[in-house]
Amino acid sequence: MNERLAGLVPHPLTVTEHEGSFPLAAGTQVRPADPQSEAAASAVAGVIGRLPAPAEPRRTGGQGEPPEIVVAVTSRQGNEEYSLLIGPDRIEIEAGGPAGACYAAQTLRQLLPADAWRAAAIPGTDWTVPCAEITDQPALAWRGAHLDVSRHFLPKRDLLALIDALAALKLNRLHLHLTDDQGWRIESKLHPAVHEAGSHRPRSRLSLNSERPKVYDDIPHGGYYTLADLAEINAYAAQRMMTVVPEIEMPGHAAALLAAMPELAAGSPPPGGFQVSADWGILPYLMSPLPGTQRFIRDILGELLTAIPAGYVHIGGDECVLDSWRDDPAIDGYRRDRGLATPADLHAAFLRDIANMLADDFGARTLVWDEGFASAGAVSLRPDTIVMAWRGMEIARKAALAGHDVITVPVLPTYFDYGQADSQLEPVAIGGPITVQDVAAFAPAPAAWPAAAGARVLGTQFQVWTEYIPDRLALEYMVFPRACALAEVAWSGRPSSWSEGEPGRPPLAQRVAAHLSRLDGAGVAYRPLDGPRPWQQGGDGPRRHRRGYPIGDVARYLDGLAAADPASLTTSE
Ligand code: ACM
Repeated sequence: MNERLAGLVPHPLTVTEHEGSFPLAAGTQVRPADPQSEAAASAVAGVIGRLPAPAEPRRTGGQGEPPEIVVAVTSRQGNEEYSLLIGPDRIEIEAGGPAGACYAAQTLRQLLPADAWRAAAIPGTDWTVPCAEITDQPALAWRGAHLDVSRHFLPKRDLLALIDALAALKLNRLHLHLTDDQGWRIESKLHPAVHEAGSHRPRSRLSLNSERPKVYDDIPHGGYYTLADLAEINAYAAQRMMTVVPEIEMPGHAAALLAAMPELAAGSPPPGGFQVSADWGILPYLMSPLPGTQRFIRDILGELLTAIPAGYVHIGGDECVLDSWRDDPAIDGYRRDRGLATPADLHAAFLRDIANMLADDFGARTLVWDEGFASAGAVSLRPDTIVMAWRGMEIARKAALAGHDVITVPVLPTYFDYGQADSQLEPVAIGGPITVQDVAAFAPAPAAWPAAAGARVLGTQFQVWTEYIPDRLALEYMVFPRACALAEVAWSGRPSSWSEGEPGRPPLAQRVAAHLSRLDGAGVAYRPLDGPRPWQQGGDGPRRHRRGYPIGDVARYLDGLAAADPASLTTSE
């Protein structure tokens, strides 16, 4: 197979090689086949027009019509489905809608040489794509990336660059974890204290939770996205067919909020008051579930969803230490008045209230981490709540069998904050390792599941929690190349063979290597497959390699927690 055709990530459904090549240019005309195809043609023109290619295409024959790309929307294809017929003078794209057309253009981009991924053209770049016929569609609708911008804030420009790199892999969800104990990252004009006081901390913990003494960097850290920034990020992602899924953590992981608005807290503040936390882990501070908190949440959602008219909102629900709900007389009375037997029932009812608010007032669908499903018993979740199952596949299967749509995100292998190799050269990470091969071997909807459960799997995504990921360079190191493997698995819906390949499908290792050359062109600081470059290593200082939590122990521990009764919600650090 032609080398360029053999380097696609994710691999298309079918690839047939033809003779010849098509000359691509920034000015290549992208023409809708009919008026109904205009939006799809614009999606293609968006990708092609951003290439640093020569303005005018190289004419193949010297005469005749200039090369062109014709885009047609067909009713027989799904929105994300496309076919691509690349001839020497004409590329025909057929797609079910703009998303499929955009993916066809992303495939074309991958068929260019790696130098085409630079920000400006360099001499000698071969701006041609090999002739071929490609048909393609994703197996899973939800192919995502989760990014924690609370533990460490990612400046907007860095986030936009990341969106570019993820969209190139046909990932279509960006789950932004915007609030947590360590920082609130959303501007609020109605409650400005949340971003003024909640968005920064005086220092950050450098030592692992298990390490003593506790070591801090004594460097102030913070930042927030204005509502205009969020609107811009959303629009930028939407141009690249990525849906932003904002997350506001509730009722736990709320210390940064409570530092700004202690009146929303359950129970009394700790000595010295609530603080934006410089420590990681599970803190015992919760929002109160009383109506005042719900009014505040409605205000914040109103502002957020004006900036990002999101169809999905994640409301957290994980790792809640419910002691303060049990011990606070006003909250305990409120629970009894509502006829709820336990704090876990109140947890489920609170999440259900917010899900109802999101549906009724904002037309948005709710996602929760799987504790939201675990606490639901006497009180069930809203049936349309999507369960994001992080504590293993068994809780995902149970939620699916209970009739919820699920996103399967087990720590092993979708938590990319875990290190990538068990090597002293690696930088500090919370634990590990989770290798790129582990990710490639992941089955997001296991074949052994009952069909009814498998049908509920919307998809999968990787998670990057950023306790030990302070900036863009550290982030890109953790994301790539594992995101390539995740994108492959999410697109195909099944594990991918790393080193063997299949008929018509070169091994993933070979295709990821090709993609890493593209990332070189784009200037993305990925981890090379054979280990960190000297300046990416942990060194002997604060980022030196430590083992952290061994991944097998973590997976077993979380499986046990997920299988236990909802009282497991109440364990603290
Ligand atoms: C999580 O990792 N607490 C969702």
